[in-house]
Amino acid sequence: MPQFRVNDHTMHVVTQGDGPPLLFVHGFPLDHTMWSAQIDHFAKTHTVIAPDLRGFGQSEVVDGPVTMQTYADDLAALLDAMNITDPVHLCGLSMGGYIAWAFVERYRDRLASLILCDTRATADNTAAQKTRELTALRVLKEGSDFLASDLIDKLFVKQTREQRPEIIEQTKQVIRSTDPTTIAASSRAMGARPDVSDRLPSIDLPTLILVGEHDAISPPSEMRDIATAMPHATYVEIKAAGHMSPLERPEPVNAAIEHFLLESIR
Ligand code: MLT
Repeated sequence: MPQFRVNDHTMHVVTQGDGPPLLFVHGFPLDHTMWSAQIDHFAKTHTVIAPDLRGFGQSEVVDGPVTMQTYADDLAALLDAMNITDPVHLCGLSMGGYIAWAFVERYRDRLASLILCDTRATADNTAAQKTRELTALRVLKEGSDFLASDLIDKLFVKQTREQRPEIIEQTKQVIRSTDPTTIAASSRAMGARPDVSDRLPSIDLPTLILVGEHDAISPPSEMRDIATAMPHATYVEIKAAGHMSPLERPEPVNAAIEHFLLESIR
């Protein structure tokens, strides 16, 4: 698996295929493996780039605070390190979507389109910020195990939990093995992220807004509002899926992304 020196750390990245670059940015507190079904599928037509963000997965752990901009800067530096100069299609899920907003702000010219899965444009309210801080403190004290059981019901619909035990176990395993300092830093960074709602009308990129029908973290009503506020956005809802729609229902998700990518180059 390739590794690149990116800013102050070594970043692990899976790259596969050939063609226009398609960058997959994972959610919290996960890694590139959440995109397994997309990596194989889109490597037939695209250069797929699926990194582990700093401290996650097999990327090097870096101490100290981060922001959504830190992650966006890392992604831009990764593209530089990989000599990717063509504009990329950026597909981010949840925290990956928060990072996408920061990437648009700083690196608009490096983007061909946006694919935003199960994410939000608003900032956390005070109660949510307190929960982020409690999560950070608890994970630093107790380790990552508790988050694995705490998060599963929020990430996946009941149907997935009952019928796809292998992806539930795989996700728990990823969470349990994620470094506590990385989780604490990203939890605090999400709590401090800005509200980008006012910027949505000025984002002139072709955009796919994709959400699981039963997403409990970034609900369809909120994602529909994002699509309405963006001038070139298409909204797609994935039936029988929750927050982790690309992992829960890869076939309709891949079909929606494929259709969007074809349309966005016309
Ligand atoms: C994620 O999937 O990245 C998180 O659920 C985002 C969040 O907690 O806001």
